[in-house]
Order: sequence, then structure tokens, then C-alpha cells
Amino acid sequence: MASLLQLDDLSVGVQVNGQSIKLIDHVCFSVAPGQILGLVGESGCGKSTVVKSILNILGRGLRFEGGAIQLEGKDLTTMSEAELSRDVRGGRIGFVPQDPMLALNPTFRVGTQLLEIWKRHGPAHLRRDTKTGRQSIIDLFRDVQLPEPEEAYRKYPHEFSGGQRQRILIAAALLCGPKLIIADEATTALDVTIQHQILGLLKKLAKERKVGILLVTHDLGVVNAICDSAVVMYAGQVVESGNVDSLLGSPAHPYTQALFERHPDREAQLSGIPGLVAQPGSFPTGCRFRPRCSKAQDGCATRSQHFQPIAADHSVNCILYDVDEEHSHAFAG
Ligand SMILES: Nc1ncnc2c1ncn2[C@@H]1O[C@H](COP(=O)(O)OP(=O)(O)OP(=O)(O)O)[C@@H](O)[C@H]1O
Ligand SMILES: [Mg+2]
Repeated sequence: MASLLQLDDLSVGVQVNGQSIKLIDHVCFSVAPGQILGLVGESGCGKSTVVKSILNILGRGLRFEGGAIQLEGKDLTTMSEAELSRDVRGGRIGFVPQDPMLALNPTFRVGTQLLEIWKRHGPAHLRRDTKTGRQSIIDLFRDVQLPEPEEAYRKYPHEFSGGQRQRILIAAALLCGPKLIIADEATTALDVTIQHQILGLLKKLAKERKVGILLVTHDLGVVNAICDSAVVMYAGQVVESGNVDSLLGSPAHPYTQALFERHPDREAQLSGIPGLVAQPGSFPTGCRFRPRCSKAQDGCATRSQHFQPIAADHSVNCILYDVDEEHSHAFAG
């Protein structure tokens, strides 16, 4: 199936002591229409930075250094800011950010804020129809289980709880019928019942309307419950990716194994592995996980990234699986 979103060798640099370090290093993955892809890894592994690169909102200190990010075959990295804000952000891509307070303006009613999104990115023939816009917003508030949706429309952000604000942002992301939804820890703060309902809603959108979903999460239960595939990141690099059955059933990379083996029921959140995630100024050469890896060997220090297929739709980037150079995918860097 053709990709909806395709990342090829995405690299993002950060300046450390006057030197540019690859904070995101040749990251590749794709999301097909109707597919739910989980992006997993410990805190600080670069998940949000990948998301910000897709939306071109990297901010100060970070710099796009190479690669391609294609949405329906069009490279977002070469699009103008005007085109991105008119057609992509809030239009073709619905984004639920990690911090809901940063995304809502405290001085405007939430209904007014969502109606502005409708006027910019709603269906072209309905954008001026504020009555339909208002009704669509209230319907979505109901879908995301916001209490008293009609009253909620007229309230200010501070009048909601953190979980309710998160649901308002999920409604905002769904408002304009996006092709792709990117949710950065969107359900982490919600209680289990509401989380279950929101995940059900996302799954329905994917299966019935063929919306692609990139779901950043710490929660392996979420990955297991709704993701079709997952990408595991460590210190800005992809270490393993594949379909969820194969990846959760037989994790191959020592990092993935360490993350997963503590949770045989796959219900819990990712837990700590001894040691800390390597930081940009102190990335080791070769495999960035090697200082924490129980299976590290000499060759790890000089190894460049190679992906080795180990099952149908499941590949791993680790020296332990470097058996067939001819068929592995390697890149310089
Ligand atoms: N503007 C910046 N300048 C310098 N370093 C940054 C910047 N933004 C992020 N980083 C660093 O990049 C790394 C990845 O951060 P990122 O927010 O992408 O992680 P994450 O995987 O989303 O973590 P979490 O699960 O905690 O949200 C971290 O080491 C962070 O300190
Ligand atoms: Mg993050």
C-alpha cells in the first residue's frame, strides 16, 4: 500500500560546544492510510523531536539536517511556511501535542478557538458556515466524552481539568477531517476508562475512515491494544521496527528486550533500564546503546546503522543480527 507519511533518513542536528550532533540520526519509517504506528522509547529518546520535524516546528537550537518527509508523496521539508500552515498543520495533519496548556490560549473560550481552526481548515464549502462548525465541534466534544458539550463550548481553558483539556485538543485534531493524526502522549494523562474510549475512537477513525495515526507513547498496553506496527527509538536512532505481533512477541534488539521483558503482561508503562539515555553531548560512537547493553561487543563501537530483516515486516539494527550484509540496508553516517 502507498504510504501516507514516509520518513527517509531524517536527521536533526543540535549544537553542542560549537559542534553539530545528530540528535535524530537517519530515522526511517512510514505510516499507511488506516495504519496505527506506535513510536516508543524512553524519555529523551527523541520521539517528540521526530514529531516536531514532521510539523516543521523544531524551534530554537535544533536544525533539520537532511532526509525527506513525505505526506501523500509531497516533501514537507521543501514546502513554504505559508503552505504548511494553510494546508498541513491542522488541515491534513491533526496534531495532539504532549502539553495541552501550551496549545490552548487561556484568554479565549475553547469553542471560539476551535471555530477559528474550522474557519481556516474546515471543508472548503463549509468554512464560512459557523453554525455547522459550532455543531461539529459540539459533536466532537461529545465523541471525546467531554461532559456537557454545549456548555463546554463557551468555557475557558482554565475551567477544565488537565484530562478534559487533553480531550479538547483531541477534538481539535479531529475537527477538519485529517488524513493523518499525530498524537504525542495524548492519552497518557487520562484515566483508564476515558483512555479506553479515546483509543477506541482513534481505532475507529483508522479502520473506518482510513486515517493514518502516529501514536507516541510510553505505554506498551496502548501499543498492544491499538497499534498495527511500532518503531522503537533509542537516543535518536531507530533500533527496531515491525508489526506489533512480531515485535512484542519476539523483541530482538537488547534495548527492546530490556524495555519489554519487565512487562510480560504488556500492560504496564516502559520502566527504567539501569543507566541513563545517552545525551547529545555524550553520544558514544557506533551503537548509541552500547554502554548500557549487556550484549555489547567490540564491533559495536564502530558499527554504522544496518537494518536486518528478521521476520516478515520486522527488522532490527544491531550487530547481533549482522549476518547477511548483502541484504541489509546500510547508510553512511
Ligand atoms: N531545543 C533543544 N535544544 C537542545 N536539546 C534539545 C532540544 N529539544 C530537545 N532536546 C534534547 O533532545 C532529546 C530528545 O528530546 P525529545 O523531547 O524529543 O524526547 P522524547 O522522546 O519526546 O521524551 P519524552 O518521552 O520525555 O517526551 C533530549 O535529550 C532533549 O534534551
Ligand atoms: Mg516527548
